[in-house]
Amino acid sequence: MDKPKQLIDKLEETSRLTKEEWIALIENRSEEAAEYLFEKARNWQHQYYGKRVYTRGLIEFTNYCKNDCFYCGIRRSNQNADRYRLTREQILECCQIGYGLGFRTFVLQGGEDGWFTQVRLEKIVHAIRERYPDCAITLSLGERSRESYRRLFEAGADRYLLRHETADEEHYRQLHPQELSAARRKQCLWDLKEIGYQTGTGFMVGSPGQTAAQLAEDLMFIRKLEPHMVGIGPFVAHHDTPFAAEKCGTVELTLFLIGLLRIMLPKLLLPATTALGTIDARGREKGILAGANVVMPNLSPTDVRKKYELYDNKICTGDEAAECRTCLNRRMESIGYQLVVDRGDFCQ
Ligand code: 5AD
Ligand code: FES
Repeated sequence: MDKPKQLIDKLEETSRLTKEEWIALIENRSEEAAEYLFEKARNWQHQYYGKRVYTRGLIEFTNYCKNDCFYCGIRRSNQNADRYRLTREQILECCQIGYGLGFRTFVLQGGEDGWFTQVRLEKIVHAIRERYPDCAITLSLGERSRESYRRLFEAGADRYLLRHETADEEHYRQLHPQELSAARRKQCLWDLKEIGYQTGTGFMVGSPGQTAAQLAEDLMFIRKLEPHMVGIGPFVAHHDTPFAAEKCGTVELTLFLIGLLRIMLPKLLLPATTALGTIDARGREKGILAGANVVMPNLSPTDVRKKYELYDNKICTGDEAAECRTCLNRRMESIGYQLVVDRGDFCQ
């Protein structure tokens, strides 16, 4: 047996590799090793989740952001971004449409926008919680204080998504302005877990300067954190950012990492991300077949969709929520899977 397959077996058996082993596995991966990995990944996926794919309705409620991450299209310095905020009523309307379409998780995602104060956010969460007691509320609002996270949890939020982006401090500084740090980001994640959120982290694949050693650190950090969800997608350049001319991440490496995550932590909720669907017309289907089990279509009103442009050529910006649901249904059925009407909690 060749080396990558041995390492895949070891990972499956022990759920851990050393940093050197991770690097060797990533650097020496082959098509054959990937096929071997994906079959194992699908076995675990079927054991815990069957061929059921969970959906999350994503509501991108503000594209104002006080941060200036070098890769992101809605960074503060991008003067060309057309900024918007949804009102509480608009957000609730998205939920109403989403509920009718079969969504039982709403993800409120936005830039770090001070207009949405603690009290305003709590009111929104509370209103959704009251109207939709059978739905999960996921927040993706960036870095906040532990106290803020705690109060939002008490207001009714169940889950929180905060990608660590890269676990390596030096790489973190290549992707972010100096006021942001990997240490702070990781602390937020530990806080979220401790408070009781189902917690999601993740990173971009192929972000500028990324090495196999840094990916090894990402995987080791995830092993240690043991989050409930991990979102990974290829880095895709945005034309109005300092990384405009940088190369995008690849489908191939993203899929390989999805497979590795599935066998490292078999119960993980793993989305086949929109970024993956953006760089490959069948990227999301390929993601599911590599071990992913979640899709996150957009519920934002169509007139703001294009404005939440984190990267170029983002898909589904012109489609109604209902169209995306139907489209994804068809896509999942084409590979023998099905979208389900379910909160889609982490399998205990
Ligand atoms: N390419 C791919 N993903 C990106 N994100 C932000 N900008 C980009 C980009 N240019 C991802 C980040 C963030 C998530 C909401 O979107 O990982 O956490
Ligand atoms: Fe949006 Fe296909 S998922 S159009």
